[in-house]
Amino acid sequence: MNSVVNKKDLEDLGYLKIEISKDLDIAKEINELRNKKNAVILAHYYQDGKIQDIADFVGDSLDLSRKAANTNADIIVFSGVHFMAETAKILSPGKKVLLPDLKAGCSLAEACPVKEFKEFLKKYPDHTVISYINTTAEIKALSDIICTSSNAHEIINYLPGDEKIVFAPDKNLGNYIKSISNRDMVVWNGACHVHEEFSLEKTLELKEENPDAKLIAHPECEKPLLLIADHIGSTSSLLKYTISDNSNKYIVATEAGIIHQMKKANARKTFIPAPPKDSTCGCSECNFMKLNTMEKIYTCLKYELPEIIMDENLRIKAEKPILRMLEISEKLGL
Ligand code: 13P
Ligand code: SF4
Repeated sequence: MNSVVNKKDLEDLGYLKIEISKDLDIAKEINELRNKKNAVILAHYYQDGKIQDIADFVGDSLDLSRKAANTNADIIVFSGVHFMAETAKILSPGKKVLLPDLKAGCSLAEACPVKEFKEFLKKYPDHTVISYINTTAEIKALSDIICTSSNAHEIINYLPGDEKIVFAPDKNLGNYIKSISNRDMVVWNGACHVHEEFSLEKTLELKEENPDAKLIAHPECEKPLLLIADHIGSTSSLLKYTISDNSNKYIVATEAGIIHQMKKANARKTFIPAPPKDSTCGCSECNFMKLNTMEKIYTCLKYELPEIIMDENLRIKAEKPILRMLEISEKLGL
């Protein structure tokens, strides 16, 4: 993982060894520090419910990047994963951007190493490179437009029909968009370990046991699961669907953290996490996302560490395709 560090500061402060008294009201302390330091806490839907409840804003990757670009706060605490905090820093270079746990990476971003991607792109010099936001700043810098699962289809449709496209890094999202848009797309072979873990067989069994339940799935899921889904969309799209749709039960094929907001918005509805292939895991959680805790948010705000630091040349190159995404999304009213 690059572009972050201050490791020495962390060690000097004994940051990782800080003991927090059991009597400390962490939510209250976080509130006081947030007000005193003019900080904003942005949290992704996959965060623990307690974190979502204390956050200033909870959202999907697209909305969180917009919030990060427009905030008046001096400090952004990004309770999500590294590429999200990095995107916040790219869009708000003058702000201090903190990530509660530097180890909060993303298997999808890791699935696209910069050296291999550069080589791959040499084969497609006349293609427009569209990269998913789940990438490192280096990959963004090699891209023409960034997208999220909320706007990938619309951004691709926005381009002239004969434009050749390279899509990276998620093969499931890429192939799904390719199938519904019928475009000339070359798709990089990456995937998210959480979304590929949902079991088709067990989900089919669950559907049989719950014939009244609708299956809602994130497009990072594998094709067979998407084929049997009643609704496919980004985290915010799945949430909106549970509000507008009139069913009472849903099987949710994305990281289970989103169920917190689904329950808050639909007190009488039932939400069942889609079952993973590996039953010893027993969960549908992103281990990276779940590295963030209330305690880490508190220490992160208190010591203003760990901070995202970026090389300015890289930042400028990575900012261009993100701004292009925001501009197209605005034009399209997304
Ligand atoms: P969303 O953009 O839908 O919030 O998804 C982010 C993500 O990491 C999915 O795994
Ligand atoms: Fe990355 Fe998958 Fe976790 Fe999303 S759920 S942050 S794509 S590892």
